[in-house]
Formats: sequence, structure tokens, C-alpha cells
Amino acid sequence: MDTQQMLYEGKGKKLFITQNTDEVLVEFKDDLTAFNAEKKGSEQGKGALNCEISTAIFELLAKEGINTHFIKKLDSNHMLCKKVDIIPIEVVVRNVATGSLTKRLGIEDGRVLPFALVEFYYKDDALGDPIINDEHCKILNITQDMSELDFLRAQARRINDVLSAFFIERKLRLIDFKLEFGKDSAGNILLADEISPDSCRFWDKDTNDKLDKDRFRQNLGNVKVAYEEVLKRILQK
Ligand code: TMP
Ligand code: ASP
Repeated sequence: MDTQQMLYEGKGKKLFITQNTDEVLVEFKDDLTAFNAEKKGSEQGKGALNCEISTAIFELLAKEGINTHFIKKLDSNHMLCKKVDIIPIEVVVRNVATGSLTKRLGIEDGRVLPFALVEFYYKDDALGDPIINDEHCKILNITQDMSELDFLRAQARRINDVLSAFFIERKLRLIDFKLEFGKDSAGNILLADEISPDSCRFWDKDTNDKLDKDRFRQNLGNVKVAYEEVLKRILQK
């Protein structure tokens, strides 16, 4: 792997070129960051857990007709994906109020929202990923075709429906999650990045125990144990 040219290094993953210009190799790192990387840590084996969890979720979504960048898992912490240009929007879906939503709007933590809330954040670390609306997207030149934003929202809602149903059968409440999308060389919009306890919040259905990166953000301990529990439940049936 070391001999391949790295295309990009993010907080949780590295991307490498492959012989095929339409494909990239994605390496899942053990690093953990929070609060725009103000808090840093590492958990041995976390990358492999997220790789396996993301693989299972991308395969589930593909079966449900959602187009994703995922091609195949290669080894414990590498997957082969279609190369896409990432659309610089973090699409967040929320079923239950927690995290930044409770802080921004003063909503009580844990309140079930009356409908799945979809929000856009501008993917820009220097700005701290500010929340944006469709008109901001136009001004920022993220897209001039506003129907693309409707498509992102519709995909996010479909993914939420599939994943919420999948996880509740495994006694996990899908509280909220973040998605990223990209365009392939033909201009198709594909779900990209990862879906893992780094990018989702999962609460145990019976105890509301947090089984995601909030354990790291809030110094709750047992981060890896929580990720292992999520994987175990995904593989349960
Ligand atoms: P928030 O409540 O902090 O805005 O987070 C909403 C969801 O998005 C939560 O599931 C965690 C996820 N998320 C990321 O994946 N990356 C990020 O940079 C942030 C801020 C949140
Ligand atoms: N992923 C972001 C960061 O590293 C924030 C977060 O997930 O809390 O810094």
C-alpha cells in the first residue's frame, strides 16, 4: 500500500490512486478527531471496524437501489471505491435532537423530532463547517442546478428510512448521521465517504447508551467496545 500515490488524507481516511483512473483505494485510519480536530486520539482497530461497518451498510443500501461509490472491501481496513468529486456539503439527517441542534435551537436533548430533519453544512474546516441553505449553496457555486439539492435531500431521507428500520431491528436507535455525496466522471451523484459510528449516532434501544463517537467526544470511555457492539449487531441476522 505504501508504494501507491496518495491522493488525499482526511481526518479518518486516506485515498490512494489505483491503476484504474475511475477507482480509488480508501484506507480507514485508527485516528479519532472531534470538534474540528481540536480533540485528537487514536484507537487501534477502529479503522478496520469502520471499514467493515461501512461495507455492510453500503451493501445494504445498494440492495435498496441507492447508488454508492463502494465497489468492494479489499482487506481489514481498505476498500475499493469509484472515484468521485465530493460535493462540499455535509448532509445531516436527524431523527432525535442532540448535539449541535440542541445547542443551536435550545431543544431538549433526546426529544424525538416530528419528522426527519435534513440539514446542509458547508464542508470547510477553516470555517468550522457552517450550516447553510439552498441559496448559500448557489452563492458558493456548489451547484447552480437547485434540483441537485432536492435530490440530495430525497436520497438522505430514503437512506434514513432504510437505515432506521435496519438498526431498530438490531435494538439500535439511529439518532442522526452525516452523509457525503460525490459526482462520478459521468456526472452521476453517488453516496460517498463512509457510514460508521464516526458519522452516525446510535443509542441502545433499551438503555439509550451511546454507541458511537460521542463516547470519544464526551470522554465516556469504551470507544472501541461500542464500535464492536455496533458491528456485532449489524452482523447478527
Ligand atoms: P452534530 O450534532 O455535531 O451537528 O452532528 C450531527 C451528526 O453528524 C452526528 O451523527 C455526527 C455527524 N458529524 C460528522 O460525521 N462529522 C462532523 O464533522 C460533525 C460535526 C458531525
Ligand atoms: N469530524 C469532525 C472532526 O474531526 C467533528 C466531529 O465529528 O465531531 O473534527
